Amino acid sequence: MSEIRIFGQSPLKGEISIQGSKNAALPMMAAALLHKGVTVLMNVPAIRDVSCMADILEYLGCHVRRQGGCMAIDAREIKNTAVPDHFVRSMRSSIVVLGALLGRTGEGSGCYPGGCLIGARPIDLHLKVFRELGADIRETDGRLAVERGREGIRGAEIHLDYPSVGATEQAILASVLARDVTVVHGAAKEPEITQLCEFLNNMGAIICGMGTEHLMIQGVRCLHDSSFRVEGDRIVAGTYGAAAAAAGGDILMKGIRPSFLRVPLAFLARTGARVRTEETTGRIQVSMEEIPGCLDIRTGPYPEFPTDLQSPFMALLASGRGISHIEERVFEGRFATAEALNAMGARIRIRDREAVIEGVRPLHGARVEAADLRGGAALAVAGLAASGETCISGCIHIERGYEDICRDLTALGARIRWAKEDGA
Ligand code: UD1
Repeated sequence: MSEIRIFGQSPLKGEISIQGSKNAALPMMAAALLHKGVTVLMNVPAIRDVSCMADILEYLGCHVRRQGGCMAIDAREIKNTAVPDHFVRSMRSSIVVLGALLGRTGEGSGCYPGGCLIGARPIDLHLKVFRELGADIRETDGRLAVERGREGIRGAEIHLDYPSVGATEQAILASVLARDVTVVHGAAKEPEITQLCEFLNNMGAIICGMGTEHLMIQGVRCLHDSSFRVEGDRIVAGTYGAAAAAAGGDILMKGIRPSFLRVPLAFLARTGARVRTEETTGRIQVSMEEIPGCLDIRTGPYPEFPTDLQSPFMALLASGRGISHIEERVFEGRFATAEALNAMGARIRIRDREAVIEGVRPLHGARVEAADLRGGAALAVAGLAASGETCISGCIHIERGYEDICRDLTALGARIRWAKEDGA
């Protein structure tokens, strides 16, 4: 097992390319199941979750070839429709495979999903989507099986009470090949949903309303071979932006659409960072010369502040000045990182869904453990601003979503490296 070691308090300087988006690539890979042919994805990030999804597709009968960021998925033959438990447990987002299997073969099954332990994370909205599209659902011994009903999968009006990203993706995947028109009211508006729809339209699907809360999907008989480039990962870019604001310095991030990060970048600017963006060339520059100021943040569905950046921003605010507040409105359990930050000298109090953060300058290095994916990255942000050495264990969580956080931050001049957990 590897841990991350950081000697903090050196400002970040330089430029990096931002990896492809995890949350866009995963549902696109699942969507490739819908096409009896070959789908090519470019700019696919080399992360654990992508490998897990590739393993699932292989198990189901696809051939997946990867070369650098390029991935070809040949889904001409589907041999299995039951996703083994260990895949689903290790990655929650694998649940969207069920919608794609239902669309392609009329059936799919898997156990209840796993992933980061950040709250209860029910799947009632996913089940509602399946039901409304005419699928039968059976739940036995913790396994979930969906099957085309007597009248097949047919278009429907689906009302989501909450704009769940996963349930919206499920509705899209299950209805692309359905009869008639499906309308999803209360759909998620995240850029990753828009990318999934653009990707499917590029394969011959007919979807409109992306980026609004009403998505319309006109079912088609089949899709065709296609290729598509995954956009840069807005959460990775936001993490590195927070790191530059916490540690100080001047960084340039390339390969990322600034408009996807409008709200987090506005918050970075409010801490005192100078943020410059170029939409056409896909660049974000973040520079910071002062001690970060405080913020009041409320997370929410896009375009509100993303819950995935809540922990990295908590680390930034903990190493700044003044008193900040964060209200977590998406995942109730997403404050686990506060304890590790407090072990680094932070003063964070949690009450229900609110965190009160009193900035401390500087935090001090400590031995800490990543509790989840974004929380782990947040510890790296704190370590960069802290005095002395920070050792982060539990990095397997970080590797689920960051290609190589040490490589990227080293390129920005940080003193950070991988080490064996026994101290080598
Ligand atoms: C996706 C992202 C994750 C991000 C989240 C919110 C992927 C692979 N993951 O997760 O990084 O943090 O969106 O932006 O894209 N809910 C229900 N019932 C359901 C489904 C969800 O109550 O059936 C609740 C969840 O418990 C949570 C909220 O809705 O409180 C948001 O969840 P959702 O948008 O579905 O997130 P995910 O798709 O799991």
